[in-house]
Amino acid sequence: MLEKFTNWKVKNEENTQSVLTNTENLPKHIAIIMDGNGRWAKKRGLPRIAGHREGMSVINKIVKKANDIGIETLTLYAFSTENWKRPKNEVDFLLRLPERFLSIELPKLVKENVKVRLMGSKENLPAHTLKAVETAINETKDNTGLVLNFALNYGSRFEIVKAVQQVVKDVEDGKLTVDEIMEETIEQYLMTDTLRDPDLLIRTSGEIRLSNFMLWQLAYTEFWFTDVLWPDFTEEHFLEAIQVYQRRARRYGGV
Ligand code: FPP
Repeated sequence: MLEKFTNWKVKNEENTQSVLTNTENLPKHIAIIMDGNGRWAKKRGLPRIAGHREGMSVINKIVKKANDIGIETLTLYAFSTENWKRPKNEVDFLLRLPERFLSIELPKLVKENVKVRLMGSKENLPAHTLKAVETAINETKDNTGLVLNFALNYGSRFEIVKAVQQVVKDVEDGKLTVDEIMEETIEQYLMTDTLRDPDLLIRTSGEIRLSNFMLWQLAYTEFWFTDVLWPDFTEEHFLEAIQVYQRRARRYGGV
């Protein structure tokens, strides 16, 4: 059993190349659980926030690579609804990161045709976090390249509860009948809205779990796990995950 699970992980060195030779069958939507910042810092005797700072610096490289190779959507799990349970100084630091990141990267994102998007609850987010993200959304709204979807204050169960509440409300208000509720209907009420489901999910740091991330949307997604900690994650690892994806046969329950 254990072997079955460890086989899910691909050795990090396998087929590592910095250039994608095969551009066919690319995943259109890649979602990443950026895990391992705390352990990266601990290994170096640094405070956890140093790991998050380093983790932030990886994001622009991966965004650039994703955009360059023609990925349509990149979803990054930056702060979960459960992350509020962390020490206050860590929460404060994490919620400062969007502002820090965008104060440096936004002009580049605008220029590189990246469109910023938010997936998560705006409730409880500090004003400075919201302002930074909303400015980025506004300044990139006409861009047509990579959609950079930040999952911020996001939790999938929360998302589903909110969707159910709104569906019930719309039924009560006569905007929708019970018989009209299909899978496509539910999709429109989720925070991904018109985004397609992720084709590929990457999780770093050796953890093999979903941690309340996109539970509906990941139904048929291909998973790729690596032991590499997020601050050590490179464009080569990213391309390796894509190459593994390209060799997979997706059957969606068929044969
Ligand atoms: C999980 O690692 C990581 C997070 C909770 C935060 C991820 C955030 C970033 C990488 C930067 C976000 C930047 C922007 C611009 C939004 P962990 O701390 O749980 O690691 P551990 O499991 O080793 O403790």
